[in-house]
Amino acid sequence: MYGLIKPILFRQDPELAHHLVLRNLSLLSRSGAGRALIRALCGSPYKDPVKLCGLTFSNRVGLAAGMDKDATAWRGFAEMGFGHVEVGTITPLPQQGNPKPRVFRLLQDDALINRMGFPGAGMEAARRHLSQDRPHGVVLGVNVGKNKQTPLQEAVDDYVAVVDYLSDIADYFTVNVSSPNTPNLRQLQTRGYLEDLLIQVRTRRDANRGSKPLPVFVKLSPDLDVQGLHDALDAAVGAGVDGVIATNTTLDRQGLQSAHRSEAGGMSGRPLGMKAAGFVRSVVDHLDGKLPVIAVGGIISGADATERLNSGAALVQIYTGLVFRGPALVGEIARAAAIARAPL
Ligand SMILES: Cc1cc2nc3c(=O)[nH]c(=O)nc-3n(C[C@H](O)[C@H](O)[C@H](O)COP(=O)(O)O)c2cc1C
Repeated sequence: MYGLIKPILFRQDPELAHHLVLRNLSLLSRSGAGRALIRALCGSPYKDPVKLCGLTFSNRVGLAAGMDKDATAWRGFAEMGFGHVEVGTITPLPQQGNPKPRVFRLLQDDALINRMGFPGAGMEAARRHLSQDRPHGVVLGVNVGKNKQTPLQEAVDDYVAVVDYLSDIADYFTVNVSSPNTPNLRQLQTRGYLEDLLIQVRTRRDANRGSKPLPVFVKLSPDLDVQGLHDALDAAVGAGVDGVIATNTTLDRQGLQSAHRSEAGGMSGRPLGMKAAGFVRSVVDHLDGKLPVIAVGGIISGADATERLNSGAALVQIYTGLVFRGPALVGEIARAAAIARAPL
């Protein structure tokens, strides 16, 4: 099915194609018949329940943040068979993001470069979209960021505001300090900032959580050097968060062939895979079982997912693989993951 649609989508500007897909998924997901159609055309029925941080994930593959920034189509993605869907990055206030064009397909490389800069409708709109009927059995993650104009010293207020506002709806939060397209955001990964930020988010989470588990994850950049990574992980453990998502996009351009390789922004997809795989191994090694790891970056096949899980990741997420391979990748990964992690 995706083989028929992909050439049409790939003739459009990448961001326009993205909006077309989201709009149609959003429309379809509003009715039972539409949801049944998504399941029939591109749903993976593959279940392999796994418990993590008090939540039950129906399988080990999730949708990475950035695909459904405003949570308009998350119910449609859930019907595709994802065990979890991470919406966002959500900021407190609406903002435009960077000027267009800001997303580029690197066709020869199975990669994307984006410099979106968190365009979005803000947390109030997200709350309206997330308040619609919930599909059964999908874990809902909310990825949180700061508005562009918020100074770094006040960033914590933005994160806490979104956590406060969406605590009763989210199943987990991701503190995103690793997108390369918001000026200085990645400085929040340095130990001084990060530990304070994570403690404040966790404290607010604890005040709001009621009886439901509400894990907080932190999402890191693959461009951290060894010392920077160890500091960030120590801050995460010290602050008492629940897990690490590795990784966001990279500024690296090694090995790219395609015409758009020199565009500014974060690169994702196949060429990120090698770097992300090594990064996940380093994260797992350093954490030594203290926190679970969710692997994302360059996972474009079941074999890639198997590799990350065998390295010690508990779950995986995909973004660029879904663009290039289509929804069939969800079932391929869910199945491979179940085999990779089956008890011996
Ligand atoms: C167009 C685009 C927008 C993204 N937006 C976000 C975002 O808002 N927040 C975030 O944490 N990650 C964002 N990401 C990063 C992805 O969640 C993921 O970490 C990264 O793309 C690596 O995974 P992949 O190789 O499977 O794409 C974005 C990625 C792309 C391609």
